[in-house]
Amino acid sequence: MDKKLFIETLGCAMNVRDSEHMIAELTDKEGYSLTKDAKEADLILINTCSVREKPVHKLFSEIGAFNKIKKDDAKIGVCGCTASHLGEEILKKAPSVSFVLGARNVSKITKAIKEEKFVDVDIDYDESEYAFGEFRSSLYKVYINISIGCDKSCTYCIVPHTRGDEISIPPSIILAEVKKAVQRGAKEIFLLGQNVNNYGKRFSDKSIKSIDFSDLLEQVSEIDGVERIRFTSPHPLHMDDKFLKVFATNPKICKSMHMPLQSGSSRVLARMKRGYTKEWFLDRAMKLRDMVPDVHISTDIIVAFPGESEEDFLDTLDVVKKVRFEQMFSFKYSPRPLTKASEFKDQIPNEIGSARLKELQELHTTILDEISANQNQRVFEVLFEELKSGGMIAGRSDNGFLVQAKGSESLLGKFAKVKITNPKRMVLYGEIIE
Ligand code: 5AD
Ligand code: SF4
Repeated sequence: MDKKLFIETLGCAMNVRDSEHMIAELTDKEGYSLTKDAKEADLILINTCSVREKPVHKLFSEIGAFNKIKKDDAKIGVCGCTASHLGEEILKKAPSVSFVLGARNVSKITKAIKEEKFVDVDIDYDESEYAFGEFRSSLYKVYINISIGCDKSCTYCIVPHTRGDEISIPPSIILAEVKKAVQRGAKEIFLLGQNVNNYGKRFSDKSIKSIDFSDLLEQVSEIDGVERIRFTSPHPLHMDDKFLKVFATNPKICKSMHMPLQSGSSRVLARMKRGYTKEWFLDRAMKLRDMVPDVHISTDIIVAFPGESEEDFLDTLDVVKKVRFEQMFSFKYSPRPLTKASEFKDQIPNEIGSARLKELQELHTTILDEISANQNQRVFEVLFEELKSGGMIAGRSDNGFLVQAKGSESLLGKFAKVKITNPKRMVLYGEIIE
């Protein structure tokens, strides 16, 4: 019998990849096929994120909504980071849920679906060498995990508690996956990990020869058929000169770098345990801009971290003015269970957080408008990935700008040169010239 799987994926690229892993296991080994309609599903999976409080609250109302529409005998499974940190509690609060599978335990999905009630949220579990089935959401852009877990202990962050310690996936497995992906038509390889540039720090197989992220990038780029390489997330602390040089000089590496700043104040950075200062961050960002004039730098910023003074916040604005990030994801600090910062006594009132977030976003909007306007009449090589309404097709430039032009399905997965004629804040519109 053909069984249907409905899966909802929240959170980051790691979660997208984890969902792909689970889909692969269920379709290859258990005879499921995907559906976009939860009403006809035999299995409903919610792959959750817990990095901020809001989506966690939403989980239970979502389960309630699925209960109303699902088939009587359909199972519901909760996976991912919220599953990791709430564990059993989910089964208690939501009896319609059959299993809870943590972000580090996705390889257990085929076991979980067969049990009456099942919980596995063990973060010591090592699945770094697990051979998953094959499933890719996109044929052209392929996500490949290079590590699992996170060894940092940023005081605001729940991730080390949901994904466990960092283990690197052996290079032989990564390179074999890359080869397989390009044979099936992949153009862009997207390497994933919580701290990609800390790659190689720990393998479960101790006999693996020493290798760092820069070496891995070079090895991936040597594979025939790989046209573009992207990665996320690098950590500013590990942006040493060797890494910047490989990034700047290897032509297959896309010139877009995520540099999660979090705060521009060295005092706050120390309390966040980020391991770098404002000066180090600025030095790395400016060096990057010098080495790669066309580089696109994106960032994540948290405002109103406990104890953040007006002066600290001004430091954040100062870094934003100096680096002029091409993209910024900004958040109001959200206290998370199990984290050190949630116990700090100097939490910032919500109104101050909202006001700071607004001020930061307004500053960045002004910068972004200037950056976008400067792209007018420029020509970018775009890899087209997605059809849009109105006969438009969308893709990204090498350096990460979202570009749209008139074009048909035949361009999907292909490169074309686009001249920008109508740059907007979030999307650069243009015309295909060749
Ligand atoms: N509160 C607000 N934002 C957070 N992030 C991580 N933890 C928190 C938190 N407790 C943000 C960081 C991170 C991004 C994925 O989410 O900026 O880089
Ligand atoms: Fe990804 Fe972090 Fe959310 Fe987990 S908590 S899904 S690692 S963003």
